[in-house]
Amino acid sequence: MNISLKLKSRIKYRFSLKKYNTFGIEAQCAAFINIKSIDDLIKVLKINKLPIQIMGGGSNILFTREHYDRLFIKNELKGIQIVGDAFHDDKASNEYIEVGIGSGENWHQFVEFAVKNNWGGIENLSLIPGTMGASPIQNIGAYGVELKDVFIKLEALNLNTFEIETFTNAQCQFGYRDSIFKTALKGQYFITKVFLKLRTANHVLHMDYGDIQKILKEKNIEKPTIQDISTAVIQIRQSKLPDPSVIGNAGSFFKNPEIPAALFQQLKEQFPNIVGYPTSTGVKVAAGWLIEHCGWKGKRLGDIGVHERQALVLVNYGNGHGADIQQLAEDIQASVRERFGIGLVAEVNML
Ligand code: EPU
Repeated sequence: MNISLKLKSRIKYRFSLKKYNTFGIEAQCAAFINIKSIDDLIKVLKINKLPIQIMGGGSNILFTREHYDRLFIKNELKGIQIVGDAFHDDKASNEYIEVGIGSGENWHQFVEFAVKNNWGGIENLSLIPGTMGASPIQNIGAYGVELKDVFIKLEALNLNTFEIETFTNAQCQFGYRDSIFKTALKGQYFITKVFLKLRTANHVLHMDYGDIQKILKEKNIEKPTIQDISTAVIQIRQSKLPDPSVIGNAGSFFKNPEIPAALFQQLKEQFPNIVGYPTSTGVKVAAGWLIEHCGWKGKRLGDIGVHERQALVLVNYGNGHGADIQQLAEDIQASVRERFGIGLVAEVNML
């Protein structure tokens, strides 16, 4: 049997994607394949005639249609390597380690692995669903840390030339939940490997979040370790965010909008409790607060709704349809615009 026949036999047709998206939405694709090596990926791309859709953990996607006439490629490129001499020029080289991680590795499993090895820098990003390869696309962030803070570079397969290219931190053009792979280069690359710079000593802990401080205080932890921070973050996330294996969701559905400081001041006069955080260019407003104050928090419409503890999270209680969640998102956007004059932008990728 030749290689392409072997590969062809691994392609599944008319395949249900319900188990492959954390929203738990039923949708079908024309074809589906798991990819475990770059070689296989290139071979599949060469024999394939359908449009392709790359899948990581399916944790930031909403299927709005019942059928996709596409080949879904599930990324299972695995492997973790310590990259030895990367910091020979760095005076503090003995405080860092550079790690190259296969893009199909599970993000949280890698965080656990890093914390166990006393590699610091991503403990605040504990329990974020999804894969390593998806993490730079939207520059994942939580509790005062973003991927870009520890990111060195990535390798990605150019889907037109089939060459592996390298993108440095600057070349990724990271922003708040944003990168070049969501904008100018959208759909043009398959990220294969991510390289992170993690601390092995003199950890810099990010504990500004009130919730983290509260938990450490309750536990009488005066000198926290990265393990303590990770445990606290897991506790916070579990208390606020629904577990996708129990209630379908994709985390925050919208981004927190940034508005000019003067506009925030005006809103503050009208709505004294409005929540916002100053940035270098304006004020980032808590979208969850805006949505809650339009009366959406905990609202349930059949099998879909707005989470009862975090209004930024839309949920599927069982057999919800993606198109209905999309409609709910539009209704929320309209009411936030009407009441506060602020446009919310979706963070979740609607397909
Ligand atoms: N708030 C409300 N009502 C709500 C939700 C939030 O009033 O229903 C207000 C509260 O005052 C709260 C503030 O909003 O103090 C901020 O809420 P929270 O700390 O839960 O964070 P967030 O701004 O809603 C962002 C990220 C999360 C990340 C947390 C912690 C975005 C879009 N979301 O949420 O990321 O975990 O901060 O850093 O930036 C994700 O991207 O999927 C995600 C979960």
